[in-house]
Amino acid sequence: MILTRTSLQCRECKKDYDTAFKYVCDECFGPLDVKYDFPVITKDTFSNREQTYWRYFELLPIESRSNIVSIGAGMTPLIKADNLGKKLGLNNLYIKNDSVNPTFSFKDRPAGVAISKAKEFGLSAVGCASTGNLASATAAHAAKAGLPCHVFAPSNIEMAKIAQALSYGANYIAVDGTYDDANRIAAQIGDGKGIGIVNINMRSHYVEGSKTFSFEVAEQLGWQVPDQLIVPVGSGAMLNAICKGFEELQTVSLLDDVSNMHMIAAQPHGCAPIVDAFKKNSKEVIPVENPDTIAKSLAIGDPGDGRYVLKRLAQYNGFAEECNNKEILDAILLLAQTEGIFTEPAGGVSISILQKMAEQGKIDANDKVVCYVTGNGLKATEAIMEVLKKPTTMKADISEISAVVN
Ligand SMILES: Cc1ncc(COP(=O)(O)O)c(C=O)c1O
Ligand SMILES: [Zn+2]
Repeated sequence: MILTRTSLQCRECKKDYDTAFKYVCDECFGPLDVKYDFPVITKDTFSNREQTYWRYFELLPIESRSNIVSIGAGMTPLIKADNLGKKLGLNNLYIKNDSVNPTFSFKDRPAGVAISKAKEFGLSAVGCASTGNLASATAAHAAKAGLPCHVFAPSNIEMAKIAQALSYGANYIAVDGTYDDANRIAAQIGDGKGIGIVNINMRSHYVEGSKTFSFEVAEQLGWQVPDQLIVPVGSGAMLNAICKGFEELQTVSLLDDVSNMHMIAAQPHGCAPIVDAFKKNSKEVIPVENPDTIAKSLAIGDPGDGRYVLKRLAQYNGFAEECNNKEILDAILLLAQTEGIFTEPAGGVSISILQKMAEQGKIDANDKVVCYVTGNGLKATEAIMEVLKKPTTMKADISEISAVVN
């Protein structure tokens, strides 16, 4: 064995491997997860560190700090949402507002860790398959690392997301097809050309970045576990990583017992294969061939971690629910007009499911609830503009304008 802090372990057959540029098990083709040799960690370990997710360095899979590629992501606000809570009858509601990350989505967490690992592995190019947000997160971190970046995304995603990824200098390949088509092509090109595709052949390391969602929430709550967590789900990587993050905090004794938390998976109608399986009590996720939803960032018809999300829901007293396009748009406006947070449709999905869970009595009034808002509204204005009343331009005339200000 090489002396490193981390190794890889097959999620299925538990076979161990040395850390390497590798993501599936040779024996059973199961996904590989990062396993740690944790040092002694106390709450003080992190208390005076930088205000980014790299404050949790010991719990992340990078061997040398010199390989960290940071654009300042993480330590986003955990907002006590009293106005929204009042409307929903919840006394302890928190919004984890990841729409304010440097590239304006939570994807800066997994992308930053994956690009840092690509640097540590000495790779010469990186890329991703994306529904929109990962494109910018990968391209921005690649720019900071000085690495070329190849983005594979379906051609129908929002304009602002394309503009953003192009601005960071990515080689942007708009695929005429679904996310699953883009993903398949990215996988083949990545393996064929030795490119580190962050969410495919770098996935074992990539998902580790999203654990910081648990570390930050626990620390911001004074090292406590929430009772209920509402998580928007596409591939399911983030929900799994959040569970792994809380478990590791228990392993290093920063949290007592995480087994009582409730994980709630939120998906949009039109692309809710995990919700469908959950409601049918099935262990198999049947892919959606042609996703149809305004929540384009969640339009992953064949979720890579779908089966594992179902396991996590069973393990953590969970539930899965979906909402339609109108409910998503209503929820975006509800969050904006109660808490002053403007989210994209994926965040609308979280808020809509939060609302449904509260109305159905699945959340107690005094539960500590954390709702993850993972992307910024400015990146996806197309859908919301359809329902907003556009201002009419008025002559700069005081009496005419005065008449409409009541
Ligand atoms: C804003 C936003 N939220 C949630 C998700 C879902 O994450 P995952 O694919 O890890 O389930 C995505 C995925 O692209 C996203 O862009
Ligand atoms: Zn295996």
